[in-house]
Amino acid sequence: MPAATLPLHWISAGEYPAWRGEQSEALRQWLDSSGFTPDRGRWLLLPGIDGATSGVLVAIGKEPLDDRAIFWLGAALADQLPFASYRLARPLPTGELAFMLGWTQGGYRFQRYKLAATLPQRPHLEAPATVDSRYVAAATSASAFARDLINTPANDMGPDQLQQAAAGLTERCNGELRVVRDASLTGQFPLIAAVGQGSPRAPRLLDLRFARPGAPRITLVGKGVCFDTGGLDMKPSANMALMKKDMGGAACALGTAQMLHDLNVPVDLRVLIPAVENSVDGNSFRPGDVWRSRKGLTVEITNTDAEGRLVLADALALASETTPELLVDFATLTGAARVALGPELPAAFSGSQGLLQELISKADTVVDPLWPMPLWDAYDEDLGSRIADLNNAPAGGMAGSITAALFLRRFVTDPARWIHLDIYGWNLKVRPGRPQGAEAQGIRAVVELLRQRFA
Ligand code: BES
Ligand code: MN
Ligand code: ZN
Repeated sequence: MPAATLPLHWISAGEYPAWRGEQSEALRQWLDSSGFTPDRGRWLLLPGIDGATSGVLVAIGKEPLDDRAIFWLGAALADQLPFASYRLARPLPTGELAFMLGWTQGGYRFQRYKLAATLPQRPHLEAPATVDSRYVAAATSASAFARDLINTPANDMGPDQLQQAAAGLTERCNGELRVVRDASLTGQFPLIAAVGQGSPRAPRLLDLRFARPGAPRITLVGKGVCFDTGGLDMKPSANMALMKKDMGGAACALGTAQMLHDLNVPVDLRVLIPAVENSVDGNSFRPGDVWRSRKGLTVEITNTDAEGRLVLADALALASETTPELLVDFATLTGAARVALGPELPAAFSGSQGLLQELISKADTVVDPLWPMPLWDAYDEDLGSRIADLNNAPAGGMAGSITAALFLRRFVTDPARWIHLDIYGWNLKVRPGRPQGAEAQGIRAVVELLRQRFA
């Protein structure tokens, strides 16, 4: 950490003209010759009398600011300011937590494959007095953990390595890990086995427990498709390019577990990860196959690329067997959710509108936005099959994220206690504070819901 701490003088667009008028002639010259304007996100280093930097002036733009704007302001500053330690010269009127969260998230870089010497050092922000630094540390670490898993390419992040990451987490957080694979997997979780059978990297179910007897029982499920070629219904290359991120749901479920542990949220937690690779091989499952699921429902495979709902179905069936208080799944499940809401806004479903609204309002307070989507009953009939109980990819592809959610609902015993998050898990554009690559989604939102309900 750098030695000196520089004051960060923020100023709103409304305050700027009067403030500028009160400054010394020399400083006014510096502001004007630097072309400083009070538009949000503009910043300028301020010179001291000895020529050294005495602080930084940051424009927060027009007031009022919402938490999302403050979050991205913080993220951009962490990305752009010179390496130094900073502190707010005066409290922000609102959104100090958002500012701090943005700052710490904006400083994330995926470092695994770059020489350390080439990486810039990130500036540091002293936590403002109103901010719970333990919360920020837990949120930042959980998000970086998930992002690292997602960013790691599939050659280094197969089912084995995902299992190792789960083992690392159970060790760190005094949990236990059970792994179901081979003949047991085929017998107990036939859909997980079917999706993974085309890969030499064996499919498995990871069953993590962070027991806390007497506390409410919560189960998280995460889609752990380590690479999604689409299977025999193979994706064209443009659609396959990013599919290392198809274990993004697993990464976010593991990140949520870590954050719940770090904040000591009193829940009796279970995390289920079907870890598979959807590959093309002579042994791959096929279009037209009919498979009996763990729950007993048979599924006609109308598209091998709709594999996520298959592996989740068996995991959700297992989760339902113990009737948890709350069941949450995270999954990079459909391209249709992106068409509807874009990459930044995960689609959220639940059998309870009240639960969904509660989640979404909590999500906003921690700047982890989600958007409500309907489990539209009338579309359920599209899941029918002439020869089986269900098909996995309704013809026509209308309302793709909804029919995927409805498919999952068939395997959940109590949909009113279930939340399904269809996430994208990736940041496509390079913008200040948003490095291109993995994005953790839904972690803070779910943690906040659980903290409010149970802490
Ligand atoms: N992993 C994909 C969904 C996906 C694609 C998420 C692109 C984010 C970005 C999933 O397994 C998939 O391929 N879904 C298909 C389902 C279809 C075949 C019914 C889709 O959404 O196109
Ligand atoms: Mn797929
Ligand atoms: Zn997939």
